Amino acid sequence: IKKIGVLTSGGDSPGMNAAIRAVVRAGLSSGIEVFGIHDGYLGLHQDRIEKLERYSVSDVINRGGTFLGSARFPAFKEESVRREAIENLKRHAIDALVVVGGDGSYMGAKKLTEMGYPCIGLPGTIDNDIAGTDYTIGFDTALNVIIDAIDRLRDTSSSHKRISVVEVMGRHCGDLAMSAAVAGGAEFVVVPEQPFDKESLLSQIEAGVARGKRHALVVICEHVTDVNALAKEIESRTELETRATILGHIQRGGSPTARDRILASRMGAYAVELLLAGHGGRCVGLQHNELVHHDIIDCIENMKRPFNQELFDLSAKLF
Ligand code: F6P
Repeated sequence: IKKIGVLTSGGDSPGMNAAIRAVVRAGLSSGIEVFGIHDGYLGLHQDRIEKLERYSVSDVINRGGTFLGSARFPAFKEESVRREAIENLKRHAIDALVVVGGDGSYMGAKKLTEMGYPCIGLPGTIDNDIAGTDYTIGFDTALNVIIDAIDRLRDTSSSHKRISVVEVMGRHCGDLAMSAAVAGGAEFVVVPEQPFDKESLLSQIEAGVARGKRHALVVICEHVTDVNALAKEIESRTELETRATILGHIQRGGSPTARDRILASRMGAYAVELLLAGHGGRCVGLQHNELVHHDIIDCIENMKRPFNQELFDLSAKLF
């Protein structure tokens, strides 16, 4: 291995820059040239590839987003598009590719690997929804953004004796919602992994109000239900004013936490180590605080993220 490429793909996440930096610096330290690919698989297909030097990644460790840019590029599902992408990589004599992204990005990396082009996947997404790792790059930062928002909502909903419904991201994974509920002291949490029993939620809130609760926080993962409609129903059942807040893309921005920077740096350097040791078609994870790697095809096809039942139960117990 003499030259490697690195790209960030799918929804960006804080810490992606730290991951790119680690790949570049660990690569250069081992005598490997590193190429940055702009805007994920889209830029790969369009041959927007540039050589990165040590100074190309100066002053990025603290920056949110990804300086290489990211894109969602559904056309990458087509084999002919991927073949052209591989030709671009070969033209630059790039031997392997490090892909930082979520499960859609892993799927692209899996397909390239199946076509004989070695890829290493690093889990970069705020959703924490990737199998084979306890944490993804960006999750901790997004969680801290949510906690900050919840603390603020608590102040105002307490002053006004209101109920606050907070919708957080996570796609089909409730990790952000559950962690935010526990760390933010929310009374109720709704996650996609558990059936949404609206009636039970409404009657629990009602019972809380009957016991004398004058304000409450409900954290709910996106895509479960319409939170504005839910807020209206809570209001009519409890006769307490209720407001819904959709945190949206604020959760994806901002300077990465120390934890995300360290995770991204460890994983980026590990990806280079794996390539130097002759591994390809792997994805990197952190399990029990140890760096691990799994077959990327197995990860996509067979491995499942376990649902964190303990965290879910804890949020209910502390209500
Ligand atoms: O996967 C990250 C994520 O932020 C999800 O939490 C969310 O559902 C989705 O991306 C939003 O995507 P977009 O930025 O394309 O609207």
